[in-house]
Amino acid sequence: MPLSEKHDETKTYDDILNAGPPLNQLAKEFITPTELFFVRNHASIPAVDLSNYRLVVNGLVSRELSLTLDEIKSGFEPQTLIATLQCAGNRRKELVDYKPIDDQLAWGIEAIGTATWTGLRLGDMLKAAGIASDRAAHIGFLGLDGIMRDGERSSYGSSIPLDKALACEVLLAYQMNGQDLPLAHGSPLRVIVPGYIGARSVKWLCGISVLEDPSDNYFQQVGYKLFPPSINMYNVNYADGMQLTKLPVNSVIVQPEDRSLMAAGKIAVEGYAMSDGEHEITWVSVSADGGETWQRAEFLNEPQLWTWQLWRTEFDLPSGTHELVVRAWDTAANSQPETIASTWNFKGYVNNAWHRVRITLK
Ligand code: MTE
Repeated sequence: MPLSEKHDETKTYDDILNAGPPLNQLAKEFITPTELFFVRNHASIPAVDLSNYRLVVNGLVSRELSLTLDEIKSGFEPQTLIATLQCAGNRRKELVDYKPIDDQLAWGIEAIGTATWTGLRLGDMLKAAGIASDRAAHIGFLGLDGIMRDGERSSYGSSIPLDKALACEVLLAYQMNGQDLPLAHGSPLRVIVPGYIGARSVKWLCGISVLEDPSDNYFQQVGYKLFPPSINMYNVNYADGMQLTKLPVNSVIVQPEDRSLMAAGKIAVEGYAMSDGEHEITWVSVSADGGETWQRAEFLNEPQLWTWQLWRTEFDLPSGTHELVVRAWDTAANSQPETIASTWNFKGYVNNAWHRVRITLK
């Protein structure tokens, strides 16, 4: 695979694949080729035996379901949607450089990709099971991968609010970019929750539960919670954390890369921007003088819901060192904080500070 693997320096994850595309291949196309789509795993990829595979739907339902992959594919109307998936840890490296963060992957800007997903609506599956109680407020997901923690094995899981689960963009996908879902991306079936942090899009899906409260899974109750900068691993009370759902507005310079040495003259600056998916990106501003003056970037694709926005602009720059900066707005006028100090949190999630790249021109 052309992805380069990512390791947490503080741990050895020998059999856990985490990888992203080389930066010179990131966001080159609107649809990310599958072999360049980042992979984020918390455990080893499970061996899935399709002859035994069943998706179980239970909890506050009128009918519990237990379905084979064939029953899932033939029993529900297929839906196709283009959606960007972005890890909550994307851009963590900038936070780590500002103040140390223990025990988390130091992703650069590559934990993001856009694919065409085909499957069925989660809402159609929930309709088939029937929501049996007006106490139902969350939909929980369980994956087949097992995580060992304190000597005990538990599955990867998460949940999303019921109203999002019933929205037409939320899919149970069995195809990615027109092919069967690859094992690394969750085959035979995964959740796709457009606009939410990638952690809610559970791979190797084996269970869906209709719940009164958010899932009690570790990755909902401890992992993927946001805390203000004053909280750290010594004073944290996980019950107080904010469960991450929608992604904040973000924009990133992909080219030129940070610390590039280039010839003075015309410099093309390119990158991506992304919001919570419900709002299109409406404006991307780029500066070549550290944020003193700005120019508007042009869009390389028609703005659309649930996907990133690729953009480009050009500067004519003399020799010397220059700081390129990007910031974006969405149609609800949401934008990005200026400094890393204001986005730093001890788990390193959802960094959306203005993105800065230093280049030296000769
Ligand atoms: N689902 C399971 N079962 N196990 C996981 O480790 N990782 C989550 C999510 N779903 C994960 C999972 C995270 S943190 C992200 S960002 C996305 O999957 C990444 O999906 P990808 O590997 O297809 O890019």
